[in-house]
Amino acid sequence: MKLQLKTTSIFATSSDCIILPIWEKKQLSTTGLDLDKLLNGALSDFLKKTTTPDAASEIVFFSPANKNVKATQLLLVNLGNQKKLTLEILRRAMEKAAISIEMSRFTHVNFSFNDIILADSSLDYAIRLTAIALQQSIYRFEQYKSKPKTPALVNVNFFVSKTTTTLETAIKQAKATISGMNFMMDLANCPPNICHPEYLAKQAQALAKQHKSLTAKIIDDKALKKMGAGAILAVGQGSRHKPKFVIVEYRGAAKNAQPHVLVGKGITFDTGGNNLKPFDGMLGMKYDMSGAASVMGTVKAVAEMKLKINVVGILAAAENMPGPDAYRPEDIITSLSGQTIEVLNTDAEGRLVLCDALTYIERYKPAAVIDVATLTGAIITCLGDINSGLFGNSDPLIEKIQLAAKKTLDGVWHLPMGEAYDAMINSPVADIKNIGGPAAGSITAACFLARFTKKYPWVHLDIAGTASAKGGLNRKSTGRPVPLLIEYLLQQA
Ligand code: BES
Ligand code: MN
Ligand code: ZN
Repeated sequence: MKLQLKTTSIFATSSDCIILPIWEKKQLSTTGLDLDKLLNGALSDFLKKTTTPDAASEIVFFSPANKNVKATQLLLVNLGNQKKLTLEILRRAMEKAAISIEMSRFTHVNFSFNDIILADSSLDYAIRLTAIALQQSIYRFEQYKSKPKTPALVNVNFFVSKTTTTLETAIKQAKATISGMNFMMDLANCPPNICHPEYLAKQAQALAKQHKSLTAKIIDDKALKKMGAGAILAVGQGSRHKPKFVIVEYRGAAKNAQPHVLVGKGITFDTGGNNLKPFDGMLGMKYDMSGAASVMGTVKAVAEMKLKINVVGILAAAENMPGPDAYRPEDIITSLSGQTIEVLNTDAEGRLVLCDALTYIERYKPAAVIDVATLTGAIITCLGDINSGLFGNSDPLIEKIQLAAKKTLDGVWHLPMGEAYDAMINSPVADIKNIGGPAAGSITAACFLARFTKKYPWVHLDIAGTASAKGGLNRKSTGRPVPLLIEYLLQQA
């Protein structure tokens, strides 16, 4: 999909479809008024006769049938009250338009964005969101079908009154974000018999080959054993696919500039281990490496944008299997930090692989650490698939993440931690236990991680609800929170 900015006449540029905003009470935009003149009032006549698009995010097709309008179709998209247009209203409407565009199998579409002024954001973010919505509508994971369908859409133009460097940059950022999200979605959607820790390592090495600014480093189970990473090793010991740390380092600034470190939960399949999950709990657990996939996608985008910062991505990759070699409830294991952990539930494995990665990355002297993990089912009960759970030990960092979430509509919600919750994971026989109790499950999971992140500013994103979306028995990756992570890193550059 090719994205471009244009300032020429939208009617003179041939396309399958022009996407034209319509305001409340079917008021035409300035471009709409120009078009109506060109069509001798046919557009306003049409709008008088139809009931849609009457309310925000309603859409309707119209055929201009005029030799001065070089578009086969017009897609009228209602954006509501012109003075109260928000990013959220725009996104909802553009998502609808994007689905229609995909279903119509248009190859070339022109968006009229001249009149778009947002009450809560700016045109550059509007363009990024629209581009992402379009890409999401055409994305397919079909490489395992005998006859994969190829998307039709190839050319997308945004018509604006004038190009600025901000808008040109927005197009570049949109392209990089799309590339990062696609990479994440391809990895996350990949079946667990193919996507195991070794596969993630190979993907990281392949990515590093594509960019001079990237290097990949794999720490295999032997090296993990040598350093004493007993927690990730315990989680992986029941699987024939051995656990690994997969590290991708991006150098965009001076060697001594402190890096932003992204840590991803990379459980390539979560059966629950000996605390085996039931049927409906296990489906979708190939997505338990979504955090790792989002880290890879973000690093790819950062490399493509050539940001002037240093970034380290580390994937804590393992497969959680049951069986004779698997770890069991009541095991006591020693983490890389030296803290001992009483395992009470082998299905609370995410925090175990993460705690060793969070200790390992101390050596980078991070400017900030963000871990991304499909950590708890409880966060779905709490926030659904709307917001990712946000926890942290640094208010300034938490605020930066909240701001990035607001700008990209890749939502987060800050939840509490603190001593009273932390006390719930004290163990009578070890330093810490891996479950708190059924109450406040997402919070006690975050408190567990907090015991390993005392040396740097840290936030934890629980993406169990937001990283994949349900569709019948199947799920699909959403590409979240790649937009949020990229926006955060853009603000640091
Ligand atoms: N990977 C799951 C969390 C999850 C659940 C992600 C549903 C996506 C959808 C995690 O490893 C897990 O099993 N968590 C347990 C923790 C419990 C045993 C304390 C859970 O949430 O039930
Ligand atoms: Mn689990
Ligand atoms: Zn898990």
